[in-house]
Amino acid sequence: MSTVVSPVTHPVRLTERINRIEPSATMAVVAEADKLRQQGIDVVDFGAGEPHFSTPQHIKDAAIAAIQANFSKYTPVGGTAELKDAIVHRHAVDFDSDYRREETAASVGGKHALFNVISVLVDHGDEVILPVPYWVSFKDMVRYAGGNCVLLQSDESQGFRVTADMVAHLVTPKTRLIILNSPSNPSGAVMSAEDMTEVVRLAHQRGIWVISDECYVYLNYTSKRFSVGSLREYRDRFLVVGSLSKTYAMTGWRLGFTLGPAPIITAVQKLQSQSTSNPTSIVQKAAVAALKGPQQCVEDMRAEYIKLRDHVVKGLRSIPGVKCTLPEGAFYAYPNVSAFFGRSGINSASEIAGKLLREVHVATVPGEGFGTKEHIRVSYATSMAELDRGLERMGKFFGGL
Ligand SMILES: Cc1ncc(COP(=O)(O)O)c(C=O)c1O
Repeated sequence: MSTVVSPVTHPVRLTERINRIEPSATMAVVAEADKLRQQGIDVVDFGAGEPHFSTPQHIKDAAIAAIQANFSKYTPVGGTAELKDAIVHRHAVDFDSDYRREETAASVGGKHALFNVISVLVDHGDEVILPVPYWVSFKDMVRYAGGNCVLLQSDESQGFRVTADMVAHLVTPKTRLIILNSPSNPSGAVMSAEDMTEVVRLAHQRGIWVISDECYVYLNYTSKRFSVGSLREYRDRFLVVGSLSKTYAMTGWRLGFTLGPAPIITAVQKLQSQSTSNPTSIVQKAAVAALKGPQQCVEDMRAEYIKLRDHVVKGLRSIPGVKCTLPEGAFYAYPNVSAFFGRSGINSASEIAGKLLREVHVATVPGEGFGTKEHIRVSYATSMAELDRGLERMGKFFGGL
């Protein structure tokens, strides 16, 4: 006799902590755009937060060689010594830091590294200062850890730039952590080296932690690139989180890292040892090639992003009603579309992004996911031709509202 398994009819009970967070807004757009594409619709994709470039050949070759050499076993949880040395070396050469092997851990992408560090540092009731607009995942990672985000409102008329004074105003006895992300996703704002130094100095003085998310640190279009990692005298109070995703066009490979005090790195590795274990062995070999190999590819991509940025900002600004600050880094424009609220029943950025996708098939990400209601994020990591196609569709769409 076969057993009949009846379908589950009772509501599924999930933990309180998983109910505290929301799915990533950017991932939701990618999924919706994909659905349209599967129906054969020609979507112009300004939604995805990833380079349109292919991974450079020498990096791919290193991965293929690693497969051929059977480099396919577990490695130490935080990455091989070879990889750790490559991370430390690259950062020292580019940013004048002086980390040791014990002060770094590799993770499965920068997102994973950030999740680990926030889990290790933030406890229930801790306050975490987070500049707005923020990258979508910071808020949810803090909430998942039980912390409370204290939002720092930046000024659009100042290009969303965050200053040390703004941060200082929000510090309370409960402040545990300050999160900096320069250049910023989504605004492209770059903090000055002076302001970053001042924040780290303040944190050091007050016993607060700083995480500097350097995901876009090589995509800085205005100033000399800067890392808090060079501020050696304050090093016991900050963590640098880096990623190979954008720097070397390696988003799908999943390789990020943390640099910071050894006790925090040990705790990060402990957490990682009970979840993912090591990042993929083959990817670690590719990462060594990326970090130690020729760096011209990074400079070439940066030069191309500057051209794309100038083109998209000019195009967006030429649409009547759309206002757009000049992003100083990363590869996103963050236009203000609030002039269209109240027209055709539209009252929010999500409604605009929804209509843009459904009516003219242009994928963007609504600002609500980044903590602002008046903007949409336009990723310009695409070809000039795609930018033109999308801008034309956007011009028609906004012109018809
Ligand atoms: C600001 C910021 N930090 C971190 C990440 C994580 O990147 P990854 O996990 O691909 O290394 C991203 C990705 O979009 C990002 O925009």
